[in-house]
Amino acid sequence: MALGEVPEMNGEDCKAAIEVATTAFKTWKKTTAKSRSDLLEKWYQLIIQNKEPLAQILTAENGKNLVEARGEIDYGASFIKWFAEEARRSYGDVIPAPAPDKRLLVIQQPVGVVGVVTPWNFPNAMITRKLGAALAAGCTTVLKPAPETPFSALALCELANQAGIPAGVINIVTTSKYTKEVGKELATSEKVHKLTFTGSTAVGKLLMEQGASTIKRISLELGGNAPFLVFDDADLDAAVDGAIACKFRNTGQTCVCSNRMLIQSGIYEEFSRRLIEKVKKFKVGHGFEDGVTQGPLITEAAVAKVKRHVDDAVSKGATLAHGGRHMGGNFYEPTVLLDMNTSMVISSEETFGPVAALYKFESEEEAIELANDTPFGLAGYFYSRDMGRIWRVAEAMEVGMVGVNSGSVGFESAPFGGIKQSGLGREGSKYGLEEYLEKKLICMTI
Ligand code: SIN
Repeated sequence: MALGEVPEMNGEDCKAAIEVATTAFKTWKKTTAKSRSDLLEKWYQLIIQNKEPLAQILTAENGKNLVEARGEIDYGASFIKWFAEEARRSYGDVIPAPAPDKRLLVIQQPVGVVGVVTPWNFPNAMITRKLGAALAAGCTTVLKPAPETPFSALALCELANQAGIPAGVINIVTTSKYTKEVGKELATSEKVHKLTFTGSTAVGKLLMEQGASTIKRISLELGGNAPFLVFDDADLDAAVDGAIACKFRNTGQTCVCSNRMLIQSGIYEEFSRRLIEKVKKFKVGHGFEDGVTQGPLITEAAVAKVKRHVDDAVSKGATLAHGGRHMGGNFYEPTVLLDMNTSMVISSEETFGPVAALYKFESEEEAIELANDTPFGLAGYFYSRDMGRIWRVAEAMEVGMVGVNSGSVGFESAPFGGIKQSGLGREGSKYGLEEYLEKKLICMTI
């Protein structure tokens, strides 16, 4: 069912939007931090007042259940609130003088026009996490929302307008999934000084390559292959709850969701039994239906990928303990695979679907080796009650975010981002603002 229509814009439209953002930057950069903070606070209030319609738009275009959609609006709004507060904290520095007649100062200034490219899996929160920081810093923006989910972006922009954020500070370029030139324009334009992208590692690499032509500042939040470790000494109930929250949120379509569950041999059977029991209780259906926990996947291609991963694992000896069925449309049954091994595709590729894949390990060393055996390093999780082990494993995991006895890591006050091929830079938190600021030295002779 068509929800509505948006213009299919092209590279020329994007150029025009960049011009508008460039003009708006001339005045927006001169506004005080306090006035930007006040405008962001008003935007936050309007988002909260409009939580229900925003959540309905989100469920309609993305498919996630309404409870999760409401949660995403709160999560998204929290970034606007956070950066309304952080706007006033972009302090500079005074450096001890190297000579009696010298004074060295550092001021922070907005980077300039920012190209923002966002994904469909969190059509609200991935926009607010970027725009909140960009606007707080004094940057103007050209946003290309995911072609699958443009309406959340447009609704957010309308509320920004109602909040009094000046025209030209946020510009949206809607595209079809076949449009490549808008991303390219944002990455290559000399008038865009920074690019921020959340999405696949393949597209991130392309944008980075294109951005090199203008030495673009770039933030990338890319794919992951999150390990989720459960040690013999873990609180099993907590570990199962954490695994469910981590794996099946948004029907498994999150960059930080566990792709590989590594379970120590002593509790493997019991953990699997308890996990399967919970997965059996899921209700798959349309996001607006009462009690639905698992919505559809975003596209037919997403279903085909999940199917390919499950078939590959089973063909190489995995046990299909639950699920494994395409239920028609874009619905795929929540699935649990046991007896996984590293020859299977899931070990190296992000599934982005409702598949819990369980591997067995014997020792802590083996678990760490398996966990780090990937070019990705976004999030990782583990459950243990041994304090020594908690420090050892947290420090050894090659990821940007570690959940210890926790299946979630995303909060507005916490730095979000990865290492290795999972990205560059951090979003949210006090570090998120820095991504949109340049440091300028003022060296004075007095
Ligand atoms: C993502 O999947 O890209 C973001 C998830 C989150 O912020 O928790």
